[in-house]
Amino acid sequence: MQELPEIAGYKAGDVLVLAGELFGRGYANGLVDEAKRLGMTVIGTTVGRRDADGSLRPLNSDELAESEALLGGKIINVPLEAGFDMEAVNGHAPVTEQLKKARPDDWNSITFAEGFIEQARAAGTARFRAALALVAKEIEGLLPAGANVLFAHTMAGGIPRVRVFMPLLNRVFKGTGDKYLSSGDFWNSQLGRLCDVSFNEVTADTLRYLLEETVALRERISANGGRVRYVAYGYHGTEVLVNGEYRWQSYTPYVQGLAKMRLEDIAAEATSKGVEATVFNCPEIQTNSSALFLGVEISLYPLLTAIRREAGADASRQLFERCQAMLKEGESIDKLLERANSYLSSPILSAIVDYDSWPQHNTLEQAELMLAASAELMGMHADQKQLVCAELSRVVFLSTGRLMLHASWNPVAPVLWLNHGIIARLVAGDRGRDILEA
Ligand SMILES: NC(=O)c1ccc[n+]([C@@H]2O[C@H](COP(=O)([O-])OP(=O)(O)OC[C@H]3O[C@@H](n4cnc5c(N)ncnc54)[C@H](O)[C@@H]3O)[C@@H](O)[C@H]2O)c1
Repeated sequence: MQELPEIAGYKAGDVLVLAGELFGRGYANGLVDEAKRLGMTVIGTTVGRRDADGSLRPLNSDELAESEALLGGKIINVPLEAGFDMEAVNGHAPVTEQLKKARPDDWNSITFAEGFIEQARAAGTARFRAALALVAKEIEGLLPAGANVLFAHTMAGGIPRVRVFMPLLNRVFKGTGDKYLSSGDFWNSQLGRLCDVSFNEVTADTLRYLLEETVALRERISANGGRVRYVAYGYHGTEVLVNGEYRWQSYTPYVQGLAKMRLEDIAAEATSKGVEATVFNCPEIQTNSSALFLGVEISLYPLLTAIRREAGADASRQLFERCQAMLKEGESIDKLLERANSYLSSPILSAIVDYDSWPQHNTLEQAELMLAASAELMGMHADQKQLVCAELSRVVFLSTGRLMLHASWNPVAPVLWLNHGIIARLVAGDRGRDILEA
């Protein structure tokens, strides 16, 4: 996205539907915020909860009350959990049972029965789609006649919920020295293959199911004169300021990137059939979902430089002061930005990160460089619970939500990147200054 989108025509009575549960610091908060600012009604959904015996259930009344308070709207209480790690099929125990006793050291020799992953996946898809059909029915009853409806897909995930994955993924994403594990080796194992299928199912194909399970609903809304739009959150690297120029870069190893490209393809296919669906590739921020990817936050620091460049020193002063106040005595924002820039401009990264062959696997050298930079930057803070990146994450999720909502009205392409430049330009002008001041 190079230009700010035209102002959307959404108004009171129009509806934002979240396909994916809302969490406190997640990206979707930006969309919810903007929808409410325009007077729209927000309808939420839930991933549901698993009981100790493994059964999937809706939220209980306390959980529902808490979630609805966070959302500021009604939640359709049908568990929309995607994936298949707890599906038993054809006499095979679910993945979670099969891997219960698996030892991390055996990661490369674990196997599954022929066809099991595909069968478990099909069972998970059927369960998810049936739940989605119920959700679509409930939504229909809640829509005012003539309302415009924006569906937002926010789901991403799919790491099987078995203990063996945590130490392995910690080694892939956070490991240095002896602890380092090559993401390429992991990805080529049976466990890696399981993750690949699972990420595709949860992160990408759920958008397809959403598009398909809302066909009738979509037709009814259109027949009543309302617009129907779909937006989804993607990730495919971000252009940030490196050595004073906007340059595309990416977190490595983002193995989930294959699923994110599949998500883009689904939006492109829908668009080609006349359904307006847009994937917005968003910057790296800190949320519940990105906590595993240590180092992903480094590319967020130069947003400060971008904001100062686009908004000027005066308009960005408060933000800089808030960030400076989070640093230890003797540390400065300039030093922080220099350190982040020296990582982002490292020749080790430029040798690896490449748009055409994205996503790249890690190397020991790259992992050690990234994790050392991440730790040093974190170490400049006075309190590890008050981080510059948390402040910047808020600016990003609010800005992207605003850009996405408006851009969805007349989408110009099925895939758009919301880079640091457009975010900085939004908050520099009348349409986004309040985000900096909040
Ligand atoms: N955090 C980042 O740096 C970043 C960058 C670009 C894009 N995104 C994307 O933004 C979207 C929102 O993520 P976020 O970072 O705000 O984190 P989040 O944890 O707030 O949101 C993740 C969402 O995925 C849902 N989810 C996870 N597993 C699921 C499953 N098995 N079935 C159904 N739903 C499931 C969660 O319920 C939640 O709604 C995701 O698509 C994510 O990939 C995040």
